[in-house]
Amino acid sequence: MSLAVAGLEALGFGFASAQAAPPALSGGAKGKKVVILGAGLAGMTAAYELDKAGYQVQVIEARAFAGGRCQTARRGFKHTDLAGNTQVCDFDEGLYINHGPWRIPYHHRSTLHYTKLFGVQLESFVNDNDAAYVYFEKGKGALAGKPIRKGEIAADARGYAAELLAKCASKGNLDAPLSAEDREKFLAYVVSEGRLDAKDLSYKGTPGRGFAVHPGAGLDPGPGKPSIPFALADVLDSKAWMVLSSVTEYEQQRTMLQPVGGMDQVAKGFERQVGRLIKYSTKVEKISQGPAGVSVSVRDEAGQASVIAADFCICTIPLSVLRTIDMQVAAPFKEAMADVAYAPVNKIGLQMKRRFWEEDHAIYGGHVYTDMPGINSISLPSTGWQGQKGVLLGFYAFGSEAARISALPPKERTAFALAAGQKVFPQYQESFETAFSFCWHLAENNLGGWAEWSPEARAAAYPVLVQGDGRIYLAGEHMSYLGGWQAGAIESAWQQVERLHARVQQAA
Ligand code: ALA
Repeated sequence: MSLAVAGLEALGFGFASAQAAPPALSGGAKGKKVVILGAGLAGMTAAYELDKAGYQVQVIEARAFAGGRCQTARRGFKHTDLAGNTQVCDFDEGLYINHGPWRIPYHHRSTLHYTKLFGVQLESFVNDNDAAYVYFEKGKGALAGKPIRKGEIAADARGYAAELLAKCASKGNLDAPLSAEDREKFLAYVVSEGRLDAKDLSYKGTPGRGFAVHPGAGLDPGPGKPSIPFALADVLDSKAWMVLSSVTEYEQQRTMLQPVGGMDQVAKGFERQVGRLIKYSTKVEKISQGPAGVSVSVRDEAGQASVIAADFCICTIPLSVLRTIDMQVAAPFKEAMADVAYAPVNKIGLQMKRRFWEEDHAIYGGHVYTDMPGINSISLPSTGWQGQKGVLLGFYAFGSEAARISALPPKERTAFALAAGQKVFPQYQESFETAFSFCWHLAENNLGGWAEWSPEARAAAYPVLVQGDGRIYLAGEHMSYLGGWQAGAIESAWQQVERLHARVQQAA
């Protein structure tokens, strides 16, 4: 960090929230040692950049593997949750579920910086699929409790909305003051948007929503007629139109990215670089600091206690867990740490012996959105298309619904997921082979999926924590505006190593 930037920071101007590349840490490490707590993406980012800049780095990791939440469950992956359930994943070789992060937006340039640098191969993640179903059972009308294609709802909702607008516009009944010329242009747009009949401005369906009988070869063009639109009242009643804005959020795009072979390939990419600096299966018990440095008391798997001394500490332990650790920081800092909630989040991977969603339903990736409590969405894999078997995501729930289902033993979570999926796909139960579920709020080193800041805590507590306390700096997705994303972990680490490095340079 340049002095100019340090000055801006002192004045209250922060860093850019979305950096494309790590900070250049020039000027040397002045013989300083940094202890990094947690070998998730924030910890490994800090380790990689500081090691490169010449710092002596030691990383402490509670788990036997690196990556933090960047995990993938495949054959042999073992997890015991805080309720005492032990699961060993027994998917067939080559199949997996990303039970943590699973998709990367194109604008998370920080994540993509490292996937490129470390040679982590990427493929498309289908985040939106017109062929996937929407299954809403709570609404009224003819569509309630019926799987309908997202593309059908999209075409009909757009078509009817365009028809209403076009008819108003053509009669000059719009509130907006449009010149005659602009009205013509607007009408042309609305006709195209809704695929309307240009003469009577009505919506009668469109080939884009699919065909009742698909066109093909032969002499008879008859079957190739567009499918019949749903009635407007049924579209409105179904509430299925809610899913149409799912990919219009900043974080969600129609196509995203995923690493080939599982999200943990990102963790492994980092581990290849900094694995030699990590002490695994070692828990932090106490973090102390004084004018001369920090000391971190740890205990390894064998019960052996030791103390690590360093000049600075970058702590990436989630606040949910850090709050339970004896830590020498000022009272306002401790209070700020208490101000954030952690989200209950769960996922289940279901191995199916046949890819019926592709073979019978022509759905290649994407999500089936549903209002079934505890399910939220069923997601079809964006990899292994047309293979024999596949693992789909049977639920991905948040908050109280995630907590409710997570409280069940794994077998019952599976039964719950299967019964729900059966309502959408008649082949669900008969195709099922084996499951693996993961509940982030029941994972002892996480106690939640991600940090959730209230506006008040974001305004008051977050800046206190970003500042750090003495020789202790915090990093992780919780220390960013990209909560619940790997890019948040990486960019918070960039920010803190830059601040730490500037301090070392200034002191020298
Ligand atoms: N970033 C998380 C996801 O992609 C929330 O689902």
